[in-house]
Amino acid sequence: MARTARHPFADRWNHNTHHFPLLRSRLPATARRVLDIGCGDGTFCRFVADRSASVVGVDVDVSVLPRESGQVVFAATSADALGLADGTFDAVTMSMVLHHGDPARLLGEAVRVLAPGGVLLVLGLGRYGGWRDAPREVRDVVTHRLFSRRMTPWDPPTVKADPELTWAETRSVLRDELPGCRYERLPLWRYLVSWQKPTTGL
Ligand SMILES: C[S@@+](CC[C@H](N)C(=O)[O-])C[C@H]1O[C@@H](n2cnc3c(N)ncnc32)[C@H](O)[C@@H]1O
Repeated sequence: MARTARHPFADRWNHNTHHFPLLRSRLPATARRVLDIGCGDGTFCRFVADRSASVVGVDVDVSVLPRESGQVVFAATSADALGLADGTFDAVTMSMVLHHGDPARLLGEAVRVLAPGGVLLVLGLGRYGGWRDAPREVRDVVTHRLFSRRMTPWDPPTVKADPELTWAETRSVLRDELPGCRYERLPLWRYLVSWQKPTTGL
């Protein structure tokens, strides 16, 4: 009988780590310098580090940043003003950070440090905005129940926040700030946005 592949985060599963394999798969194979904004305890950075020459993780919360960095460079800084040079990274990831601040401001900083042609990936969530969100809400509840039967739930010591913007409002901001971006509504109350920085004009 064919066996289903084990999820890489089966022992540290939550609605974020569930999507980390997808997030990593969307990084361009050519991305050598990767920045993860709001990296928390660095789980995604370490997951990416095998595949990229240079991974930097930043978070405003010093208490959660790993002390042992291994292959990854961790730094305490805010997504509002990263203090990093323009156009430094081939790829920038933001997992569950956008709703912690002013999304336009945070996206602007991410775009600034991205090299022309670089890729920005944003994993996030929105607030329930009424009946239009109901079908996906039902799907998310059912999916959660099915997965949580066979995964070990994991609650990392990172700061969490409830989103102020609805799913539709969040998508609208993303489309305004990242023209031409691809927006996907994923199971388990998450969206994924992929955007490539133009090589000219920004
Ligand atoms: C829900 S956790 C997500 C952690 C990790 N990215 C993940 O997906 O598991 C949100 C993280 O964003 C960080 N954060 C919130 N506001 C930030 C800001 N302005 N600059 C940098 N990091 C921020 C928090 O400290 C926290 O570690």
